[in-house]
Amino acid sequence: MQQLRDAFGRQITYVRLAVTDRCNLRCTYCMPAEGAVIVERKELLTFKEMYRITRVLTELGVRKVRLTGGEPFVRKNLIDFLKMLSFNDLLEAINITTNGALIAAHISDLERLKVKTVNLSIDSLQPEKFAKITRRDVFDQVWETYELLAKSKLKLKLNVVIQSGVNTDEIADFVALTKHKEMDVRFIEEMPFNGVGVRKTTEVWDYKRILEEIRVVAPTLQTLPLETSSTSRNFKVEGARGTVGIIPAYTRTICNDCNRIRITSTGMLKNCLFDEGVFSIRDFLRKGASNEELKQLFVDLVAQKPQNGFVAEASRTKNKKVSESMSSIGG
Ligand code: 5AD
Ligand code: SF4
Repeated sequence: MQQLRDAFGRQITYVRLAVTDRCNLRCTYCMPAEGAVIVERKELLTFKEMYRITRVLTELGVRKVRLTGGEPFVRKNLIDFLKMLSFNDLLEAINITTNGALIAAHISDLERLKVKTVNLSIDSLQPEKFAKITRRDVFDQVWETYELLAKSKLKLKLNVVIQSGVNTDEIADFVALTKHKEMDVRFIEEMPFNGVGVRKTTEVWDYKRILEEIRVVAPTLQTLPLETSSTSRNFKVEGARGTVGIIPAYTRTICNDCNRIRITSTGMLKNCLFDEGVFSIRDFLRKGASNEELKQLFVDLVAQKPQNGFVAEASRTKNKKVSESMSSIGG
């Protein structure tokens, strides 16, 4: 069987697929308050195109897909697409990253499909602060989703982007959540990807600083063994049911065993979060490519995957500094 292997011997088994660039929230580190740039609908991949891309990728060894956005549930009839994807017998797991504001009513549907893990983005446990960060008053809906997910059979991970002066004072509260619940809280280093440069990042709360703080609030912190291809370094407070992790999204110390590629909502293949998009899969499909041609294209493109996020960033040709929003890249 043909496989997706890069020049460093890494096999690609995971694809992150952005199903939309639109979002119902306006997180300060991701989008401007007004005038967020969104593409025309016809620029977005259709469900059929996304199904076909995923099918071909699974025939090349991909086993997991993560749906991201924007907010995946802003895409109309997403549940129908999840049903379609669940038919793919080569796919082992569908994971979803969501802000949770629109999904409380869908959780039992998700349990019946191939969805295994939900990553819920929640940067504050305080409703007022939450509204300031997301510029929308939806904490109650998100919290309802949290509670339903915690009771469901889906695996729950919380994504917490750490911003100095905003939510570093809540690290203790987030860590405390892991005490009684079997879930993973993961603190994410903020990256300067925010569309039109709304929030300048000179973020001092990097991996090291976040870990120092966790150790202060949880002196019995144990380091868990490294997991291959994990995006986070993981820890556990003694006796806790859940775990605590840190995602070095910006300091990029996890690139060595990367097993991922991304497809943006407009169908650009990205070998790395920090590259500028290497090829339009959408245009290739729309020109009438066969599945065999698509397969060969993926094999050839993945062979060019840069060694790490620093190399990827340095080889950008248009915008030297990464400035696009995570909502168009696909978180
Ligand atoms: N830096 C770090 N994380 C970000 N996310 C979105 N924008 C940024 C950024 N600039 C996160 C979201 C979500 C995940 C998909 O990516 O909070 O949890
Ligand atoms: Fe939406 Fe996620 Fe961006 Fe927030 S970070 S505005 S929830 S896409």
